[in-house]
Amino acid sequence: MKKRVSLFLVALLMVAMALTGCGGGAQNEPADPPAAEGDGFAADAVIGVALPWLGTQNWAEADQMFKDQLEAAGFKAIVQHADNKVPQQQQQIESMIQNGAKVIVVGPVDGSQLGAVLEEAEAAGIKIIGYDRLIENTTGVDGVVQFGSVKTGELQGQALLDGLAAVKGEGPYNIELFGGGPADPNAPNFFKGAMKVLQPKIDDGTLVVVSGQTDFTQCATMDWDNSKAQARMDSLLSGFYADKEIHGVLSPNDGIARAIITASEQAGQQLPVVSGLDAENESVEWIWSGRQYSTVAKPTDVLVNKTIEIIKSLQAGNGMPAPDTTVNNGKKDVGVYELPPLVVTKENAKEAFANDPGRLELLK
Ligand code: BGC
Repeated sequence: MKKRVSLFLVALLMVAMALTGCGGGAQNEPADPPAAEGDGFAADAVIGVALPWLGTQNWAEADQMFKDQLEAAGFKAIVQHADNKVPQQQQQIESMIQNGAKVIVVGPVDGSQLGAVLEEAEAAGIKIIGYDRLIENTTGVDGVVQFGSVKTGELQGQALLDGLAAVKGEGPYNIELFGGGPADPNAPNFFKGAMKVLQPKIDDGTLVVVSGQTDFTQCATMDWDNSKAQARMDSLLSGFYADKEIHGVLSPNDGIARAIITASEQAGQQLPVVSGLDAENESVEWIWSGRQYSTVAKPTDVLVNKTIEIIKSLQAGNGMPAPDTTVNNGKKDVGVYELPPLVVTKENAKEAFANDPGRLELLK
């Protein structure tokens, strides 16, 4: 009799696990409200997309693609950007919750300032997908779609080294280092990846950071603001390079790369080898004409498509697909859907943009 009762209890437990999606669902999911998984939602549901700003080409592309593709998939899309302001983004997410969004996609202005509003969304059974940037220090995130951020930095560091060898002859080489906006969790990761490659060459004397500024905090560019990067570059050049050539600069993205190159030209320097990120149209042209050495392509359409694939899986009641890896955000292990970034120089540009008619057109 006892045995039968316990068998019955085991069977009951298994049914309960199957119903709530526990035990077999996406990795690292601590108990979500049962209604959120397995049920799906209406095919014309509201989907919110909260972008940080439209200050670089990738975000402007994402803004347009989310609007077009979510509507084309039958959803009602609320796509907003926060002009790089944290309170504005918090309010936008708040109003997406009030408007009944079933999924909110978030590219955070500041990775660690959305905890309260996202936990409110989580409690309402809304799924939250980090887009391009990690969302830190909150349980209110179900997964992140991004190009590998440390990998991106490694590619930038390696491109700088390769470019120096290709363009500037034998070392040692004088270089300077730039990082992105410190509130963006990608920025320290890009820098960390680059330093994995560059630090050993600084240690063995191949690379000389003439200013001595090698910490992320010294090299960061507040708010990813190109004009702040240009001002820092102006002062590095006048302070340390009045009688020296600068051979190369690590740049975290294309806008900052163009600011660095412009400052160098204005200071009468030979063009330094400069890395980049985003394959922005203007930088693709500069690479083709030899003014910027490299960029890293992380195509927006691939990132948006991946995000919409996840939203469709949630809509159909299939939950979050299995992630490629996980990363701890300070509060939980977050599943990461990780896409591969690609370094682009003049040498491989035609191949790299073979399926991108807009950028291919610029290589003339
Ligand atoms: C993105 C880059 C972008 C930068 C500034 C980063 O989080 O990954 O593509 O250039 O933000 O907008």
